[in-house]
Amino acid sequence: MRKLLKRDNIYLRKANNRDIRFLFNIFNENIKKKNFFSKKKLKYSDHKIWFKKNMSKNLIFICVKKYKIGYIRYDKFKIKDFKVSIAIKETYKKRGFGKILLKRSLGMIKSKNFKIYAFIRKTNKVSKKFFLSCKFKLTAPNIYVLKYKNEKIH
Ligand SMILES: CC(C)(COP(=O)(O)OP(=O)(O)OC[C@H]1O[C@@H](n2cnc3c(N)ncnc32)[C@H](O)[C@@H]1OP(=O)(O)O)[C@@H](O)C(=O)NCCC(=O)NCCS
Repeated sequence: MRKLLKRDNIYLRKANNRDIRFLFNIFNENIKKKNFFSKKKLKYSDHKIWFKKNMSKNLIFICVKKYKIGYIRYDKFKIKDFKVSIAIKETYKKRGFGKILLKRSLGMIKSKNFKIYAFIRKTNKVSKKFFLSCKFKLTAPNIYVLKYKNEKIH
């Protein structure tokens, strides 16, 4: 795997209205590939409504390196518990971007000592490996958890 360098000029930013289409395409791409639990493709009109409601929570981040590379989203379901969803565009996979996106975005969550849950389909082997490599622990079938205390992910 090619290592990412500082000059690669990657940055993370909060999602905005101009990311609606990008998120729509990448969600549906992953639904089609059966990477997510959802089985039905999203409708653009529903997605737009969902996005408008969720954007203001400031928990959707876009990874950019000249072009948009991927997204990560955190859904708060208890005071200190977040569910994570992440996807990298096909052409940019396996180059370390997913790890960077996860690592940097965790530092952007305005909370302390929280837990991140990744609910992963049994068949999604790449994703399981990804979360284990990012220090998540398997706590129940298909559930990977990271206790985040500003710990470093290498
Ligand atoms: C999971 C995903 C986000 C990983 O992103 P990525 O940028 O390709 O991952 P990275 O390059 O940062 O890889 C980090 C680690 O993940 C593991 N990994 C990533 N891709 C892998 C693959 N194809 N096979 C095996 N392990 C893999 C490796 O352990 C890797 O560390 P290493 O390179 O030191 O071995 C990406 O594959 C993806 O978008 N998958 C589809 C969406 C999805 O399933 N999301 C998870 C459900 S929410």
